[in-house]
Amino acid sequence: MIRNTKMLYFPMYNDKYGKLVPVEANGNVPFDVKRVYYIYEVMDGMRRGFHSHRDLQQALICIHGSVKILVKTPFEEDVVCLNNPQEALWIGPMVWREMYDFENDGVLLVLASEHYTEDDYIRDYQSYEQEAKVFFNVKEKRTYK
Ligand code: TYD
Repeated sequence: MIRNTKMLYFPMYNDKYGKLVPVEANGNVPFDVKRVYYIYEVMDGMRRGFHSHRDLQQALICIHGSVKILVKTPFEEDVVCLNNPQEALWIGPMVWREMYDFENDGVLLVLASEHYTEDDYIRDYQSYEQEAKVFFNVKEKRTYK
């Protein structure tokens, strides 16, 4: 995994009624969840995201179908295929992300550590690269791992 990303794994309770996966803020998700949103009915060939956040932490869970996530810094990149409701991709600050290949009616549930604020977004890749080079070179407190 690239810096400031990691996989999270959740327990699943399976009984004759079906399956249940509990996700707890500051428990199996390592931050206080202040916001939740979900992305679904993404059309074939659509790619979205194309941004980074300066401070936000997120946990991405594909609760139905599958979706690919490109995570990228100026120094490394990775593609994670999410297709299991028992796992999440945690993304910390200053990681560029793109989501694509939503398949089998993919539904992406996102847990976020902060309320929505446009100020936290970096949407221009050139600007992102400049800020991220400084961020990852200087051993920042917000760099995990
Ligand atoms: P955007 O972040 O551009 O989606 P993506 O990066 O997945 O392509 O968000 C799409 C729209 O939704 C944009 O107009 C902002 C709005 N939005 C909110 O109002 N609140 C939120 O929590 C999020 C994530 C987006």
